[in-house]
Amino acid sequence: MEKFAGRIELEVLTFARFVKKTMKKLNVLLLGGGGREHAIAWKLAQSEQMNNLYIAPGNGGTSQVGTNVNIGETNFPEIKRAIIDNNVDLLVVGPEAPLVKGIREYIESDIETENVRIIGPGRAGAQLEGSKSFSKAFMAKHGIPTAKYGVFSAGQLEGAKEFLHKMNPPFVLKADGLAGGKGVLIIDNLKEAHLALEEMLVKSKFGTASETVVIEEFLDGIELSVFVLTDGKTYVNLPSAKDYKRIGEGDIGLNTGGMGSLSPVPFADDEFLRKVEERITKPTISGLKADDIPYNGFVFIGLMNVNGDPFVIEYNVRLGDPETESIMPRIKSDLLEFLWKCGGEELGNDELEVYTQSVASVMMVSGGYPESYEKGKTILGLDQVQHSLVFHAGTKNDGSRVSTNGGRVVTITSFGETLKQALAASYSEVNKVYYENMYYRKDLGFDLEPIKQE
Ligand code: AMP
Ligand code: GLY
Repeated sequence: MEKFAGRIELEVLTFARFVKKTMKKLNVLLLGGGGREHAIAWKLAQSEQMNNLYIAPGNGGTSQVGTNVNIGETNFPEIKRAIIDNNVDLLVVGPEAPLVKGIREYIESDIETENVRIIGPGRAGAQLEGSKSFSKAFMAKHGIPTAKYGVFSAGQLEGAKEFLHKMNPPFVLKADGLAGGKGVLIIDNLKEAHLALEEMLVKSKFGTASETVVIEEFLDGIELSVFVLTDGKTYVNLPSAKDYKRIGEGDIGLNTGGMGSLSPVPFADDEFLRKVEERITKPTISGLKADDIPYNGFVFIGLMNVNGDPFVIEYNVRLGDPETESIMPRIKSDLLEFLWKCGGEELGNDELEVYTQSVASVMMVSGGYPESYEKGKTILGLDQVQHSLVFHAGTKNDGSRVSTNGGRVVTITSFGETLKQALAASYSEVNKVYYENMYYRKDLGFDLEPIKQE
């Protein structure tokens, strides 16, 4: 009997291997056109299960690993057409806007595309990013540590001012809705905070996004991000990462989309990450389930480490940019396999295999960014970069030349045995690239103890 059972087992195993090998190759459409999407496309293109990879709209880098399709990321009818025309099996949504606008519902409600697997939540789940008041209420309900807060709408200006009086400076004011990463104000002075509040609530400083404002306690600590992929039942941890948001060295000046990133985060040790998992990740996934919010996709958890304890600053329903540029190279497993399973609610309990080396990404931007800047500058020297990866963000192919097409232009991404070595490698390769008015921060990582001491 035992022998017989053993034989069946062997046959099942062989069959499983056969199925894996002969599993249908996948056609994938990735939405977005930034550095994050180039990094995701670069990783997915390495999968043996990849058939055709399309990126809409993509950029000058994604066309090296797949086919760019000239469709805007929120042009739902055209996206659906591209899915049908190209027999797309899996739709991977890079940025938040299509998710908040309901791309999942749009694709799932059509008989021609209802079976396409999708990475990215539906409208309800996307509210975790699309509405700060929704995400704060979610955290409060599920006991997830976050800053104390109050929510106020236009008719409640006086109440909001009273609430501010009870808080200590600095005052944190957040537009409830999506405001392109600009909707958070941190203000030291009470009078200025009153004025800003009035501008947001009454004068629509951030349009409809600031019709509701969240006022928060200021969390004093150091920021980092963790990322999970979930199918609503189980989840997989991705590597942690840290980005650098301010334009100026020493973390001063205007906020940007991100001037560079590192992975892993040196101060996110095992003990800290265990706290994150127990206090934040698990209650987040079980909270979604308890609230009947289906969720297949990435959850980006922006954290503040306050004296060794993690607090959630924000959720995003996508991967971070430029965090992704440092995370993708660290993933050893076949990401496409994980995404395919995630889209079909078959994620299970497999962990992602990760390389132990560190990765650093230096973002090269257009002079003037994040305010006004010029586009169309010819980028020279990209082919000279040999020891690092180049992920394109705002670039465009103009015939045989590549030119700048955005504020953030390219990341130079490198491996190292340590973060310091990874950073040194990126800074050395950055010197090979040139375009008019280029700028990058030269101080990434030097705020972190292990790098200072190394
Ligand atoms: P958010 O869009 O919510 O991620 O906020 C943008 C940035 O503002 C964050 O990355 C933090 O640097 C900062 N921030 C947001 N909320 C707080 C808070 N409660 N305390 C301190 N800094 C904050
Ligand atoms: N790097 C921050 C973000 O993607 O929102």
